[in-house]
Amino acid sequence: MSQTENADAEDATDATAVTANRTDGRRASTTAGETVEETRPEWTSYEASGETKVAVEDLDVHYGDDHALKGVSMDIPEESVTALIGPSGCGKSTYLRCLNRMNDRIRAASVDGTVELDGEDVYQDGVDLVELRKRVGMVFQSPNPFPKSIRENVSYGPRKHGDIETGLLARLTGRAEPEREARLVERSLERAALWEEVNDRLDDNALGLSGGQQQRLCIARCLAVDPEVILMDEPASALDPIATAKIEDLIEDLAQDYTVVVVTHSMQQAARVSDQTAVFLTGGELVEYDDTEKIFENPESQRVEDYVSGKFG
Ligand SMILES: Nc1ncnc2c1ncn2[C@@H]1O[C@H](COP(=O)(O)OP(=O)(O)OP(=O)(O)O)[C@@H](O)[C@H]1O
Ligand SMILES: [Mg+2]
Repeated sequence: MSQTENADAEDATDATAVTANRTDGRRASTTAGETVEETRPEWTSYEASGETKVAVEDLDVHYGDDHALKGVSMDIPEESVTALIGPSGCGKSTYLRCLNRMNDRIRAASVDGTVELDGEDVYQDGVDLVELRKRVGMVFQSPNPFPKSIRENVSYGPRKHGDIETGLLARLTGRAEPEREARLVERSLERAALWEEVNDRLDDNALGLSGGQQQRLCIARCLAVDPEVILMDEPASALDPIATAKIEDLIEDLAQDYTVVVVTHSMQQAARVSDQTAVFLTGGELVEYDDTEKIFENPESQRVEDYVSGKFG
């Protein structure tokens, strides 16, 4: 794991939209095989049935001179799975990172527009980033458990937030709360569908787990701080088909209680797990956002149709 990913994971563990695109006549250069087409605002003005959890309005992100996201607006409904799909470099990760201000860590990145969580702008002055990342947790592409025991991985976030006293110092000073920690660890691992596989080896190093188990541990670590939104950036792309199926089942299950936003390169995965799908295409444009079935069976945009049927990307 790179140092950056490690820092990201720590940050994310620190707790750890849809409307219209601008159509100002710009024509971005296209990915090979992509037809040129003007995006229509109605293609992205989707209103989901549930309550809006995250509302994104006119979001622009630049990395220096590179305009990575262009006027993206989309409302993400609570307790559902929203999939983000699109070819490499179209801004999916950039968009995801805006939702809990992980882009703040990238010096070259500048973000304009608004992102509201339960109606509160997360970019306004005075927002507590630790608290924000506790409410909006993140799971990364490669499983990145800390080189600590399974138990410590799960209790890391709550301990860092001061929600629970664990560890050597707490034990020495008599402040340790082993029963609370045990309950929290069991609950989080249960919720991440890992408890059955690891309950007899909670003190083993997490790096000894399989890739799929490590990824579910990272999900348990994220759940331990009681988030409301869970962002997942290609959470199964490093896993074999069986481990992937387990993560997909888990994603669907988590949507009963959490708002899940998942970036995936797999159309099948998006079609299987998500309720609504947002398609980003060349140049950081949100081209279409709608019910997943509609996107895959009868999209409005020719480019989206070409993309989901595998003609380019
Ligand atoms: N840290 C960064 N510094 C500079 N440019 C960046 C940075 N991160 C992303 N970009 C640029 O922003 C654009 C969007 O990148 P992003 O990683 O969001 O795309 P993506 O859709 O997630 O791609 P992939 O599917 O390959 O993960 C790209 O042109 C990329 O080069
Ligand atoms: Mg990405």
